[in-house]
Amino acid sequence: MREVADVPALKSWIGSARAAGRRIGFVPTMGALHEGHLTLVDEARRRSDAVVMSVFVNPLQFGPSEDFDRYPRDLERDRALAAGRGVDLLFVPSAATMYPPGADTRVVPGPAGERWEGAARPGHFAGVLTVVAKLLHLVEPDVACFGQKDIQQATLIRHMVRDLDLPVELAVLPTVREADGLALSSRNVYLEPAERHDALALSRGLRAARAAWQAGERSGPALEARIERELNAAEALRADYIAAIDPEQLERVGEAPAGTILAVAARVGRLRLIDNLILE
Ligand code: PAJ
Repeated sequence: MREVADVPALKSWIGSARAAGRRIGFVPTMGALHEGHLTLVDEARRRSDAVVMSVFVNPLQFGPSEDFDRYPRDLERDRALAAGRGVDLLFVPSAATMYPPGADTRVVPGPAGERWEGAARPGHFAGVLTVVAKLLHLVEPDVACFGQKDIQQATLIRHMVRDLDLPVELAVLPTVREADGLALSSRNVYLEPAERHDALALSRGLRAARAAWQAGERSGPALEARIERELNAAEALRADYIAAIDPEQLERVGEAPAGTILAVAARVGRLRLIDNLILE
């Protein structure tokens, strides 16, 4: 695995790969890699001949009171995991490389970016879209892989690619979970045992609502209430939103046809966790 930190070195590697006729797959990450990230690598490998992964904790997508400084970082471990899974090029830019002084242009999402995570984290998605747009331009991948775990992010990236005519295919891969249902997340390392126990209410609530949907329940509010019941039973957990939403504009639905997303966010201790499920 090659590793580069600056743009000329990245461009030169990409140029050679292209000249050799290789199809490029791309997996953007903020590091602290886990099996969720690595399944994106597997898919990128299936769909391309050369896999590029970026590791960049993007300051632009963290609010002033968020955990940018505390975000887990372990480049040595990430290197080993990425290499072990067949990443060909690791791109690890510095903040100064991505945002030199005066780099204040932003890519801003439409109204679908103002709901849910966007409401809880003002400016977050403009930070995400700006860095993803830059990375897509730098890497020029044929295919880029994202996780359903961050379904609003994946949806807004899909909108950006469509609206700005970016020449890339997107793949959105199912959420990888622990055996007990907890969605893998880089921030899970900060869960105390009791908090981790309460955090299970998210996936349990989603599964309970899906079971109700499969049994014929089609009311959005009733499905949300089913999730709420599970979240209320977890003492240290404070629900932020519980929503049955449509997959395009991410607006709350009254009736929940196949394709409806159940999305939840909750605070557990100092952490904010999100999870979702697509009804099908
Ligand atoms: P990060 O949180 O590191 O996630 C990188 C990618 O891994 C995202 O596409 C995310 O949805 C996916 N992912 C995270 N947990 C997952 C899980 N349990 N199962 C499957 N996929 C999972 O998302 C970001 O970084 C950043 O916002 C980024 C897109 C890199 C822009 O900075």
